[in-house]
Amino acid sequence: MKVDIALGGTPPHVSEIFIGEDVMEAVPGALEGALGGRSAYWIWDEAVWSLWGRKALDLGWPVQREGQVILFTATEPDKRLASVEFLARRLVNAGAGRDSAIIAVGGGVTGDVAGFLASIYMRGIPCFQVPTTLLAQVDSSIGGKTGVDLPEGKNLLGTFQQPKQVYIDPGFIATLPDEELRQGMSEVIKSAMIGDEVLWKFVENSSDAIRKREPDALLRVICASCLLKSRIVQADEKESGRRRVLNLGHTVGHALEKLTGFRLKHGDCVATGMVAAATLSHRLGKMQAEDLERLESICRTWGMPVRIPASIGSQAIVDAIHSDKKRIGEKLHFIMPVRIGKVIEFTGIDDGEFSKVLKSLGAG
Ligand SMILES: NC(=O)c1ccc[n+]([C@@H]2O[C@H](COP(=O)([O-])OP(=O)(O)OC[C@H]3O[C@@H](n4cnc5c(N)ncnc54)[C@H](O)[C@@H]3O)[C@@H](O)[C@H]2O)c1
Ligand SMILES: [Zn+2]
Repeated sequence: MKVDIALGGTPPHVSEIFIGEDVMEAVPGALEGALGGRSAYWIWDEAVWSLWGRKALDLGWPVQREGQVILFTATEPDKRLASVEFLARRLVNAGAGRDSAIIAVGGGVTGDVAGFLASIYMRGIPCFQVPTTLLAQVDSSIGGKTGVDLPEGKNLLGTFQQPKQVYIDPGFIATLPDEELRQGMSEVIKSAMIGDEVLWKFVENSSDAIRKREPDALLRVICASCLLKSRIVQADEKESGRRRVLNLGHTVGHALEKLTGFRLKHGDCVATGMVAAATLSHRLGKMQAEDLERLESICRTWGMPVRIPASIGSQAIVDAIHSDKKRIGEKLHFIMPVRIGKVIEFTGIDDGEFSKVLKSLGAG
């Protein structure tokens, strides 16, 4: 399947997403046309390189000389400026210029860091993405948000730059640890909650097939999530309105990531964040108990946390939210689910009311 995100600009540009079981094989051919004579510099998560590097070279992914493959450790704490500088210097020393392009191979950390670097390297060079985690395949590789974290919070430095092409092959998911599969499923559940009830039912009924990484089941969730995200991004590339719905669960989620020093993973925090948003919605009379229960139940099936550890104080969460860039003005601002497949934007929740919600979920 191919999904095009048509974007503005003169001339208008398009971000192309290729999804399928044969995409890994198709990379050399697709790149040849898209690079248009640029030399490619590959930025790989070193853990992914050790699993998939040999295969990529055997498939003929274009690497002409040493220095064109750059490896880095890509854990969440590595999503910082120091990694950007390290990679930029490797690029300079390898001879990359304005006529080069970056290809990111790895999960969301690699994609966010390499995408950020591409957007500022010599004032910007094209970027291609080869996402290898489910989370990156259903979410982070699409839509052009790039960035790194600061100790003060997630993604506080970043840019918008659409990848020229994204190559999504579910084959990569074969080597993904279960814990990481779960992180991706959290973003799939988010997509379904935002706007795809059919996807929601599929996930409810097919968790075994997905867990076994059956290609058809994986393709189904990847395609549905990519379609939903690409439609939203196409309508609002720079997040001035509609795109904000994609932040469902992320307001509390980012606060939990920060407050646990990234011990809790992104997808897990988003799951807890979605439950918090749904609980708030239910308390305000906007969501029925049955839908809140369905959300908690689907998260539990996947082993996602639906309660907040008592060691995290509700006031600390509220403070962290206030320092996050997703804030609008002084009052808390939320994307709230109202039923499976529909969310609304809600501003004007006071801190006290929200603290009660957090405490009801276990926060101290
Ligand atoms: N830019 C966006 O729009 C956007 C959207 C959602 C999330 N994100 C960001 O994405 C990041 C999370 O991404 P992630 O969950 O992919 O994390 P990640 O990149 O840290 O990858 C998770 C782990 O999986 C390993 N891995 C990757 N591919 C593998 C494979 N095929 N087989 C075995 N192991 C593999 C990695 O080495 C790593 O240890 C967060 O920083 C989050 O903020 C960005
Ligand atoms: Zn996310």
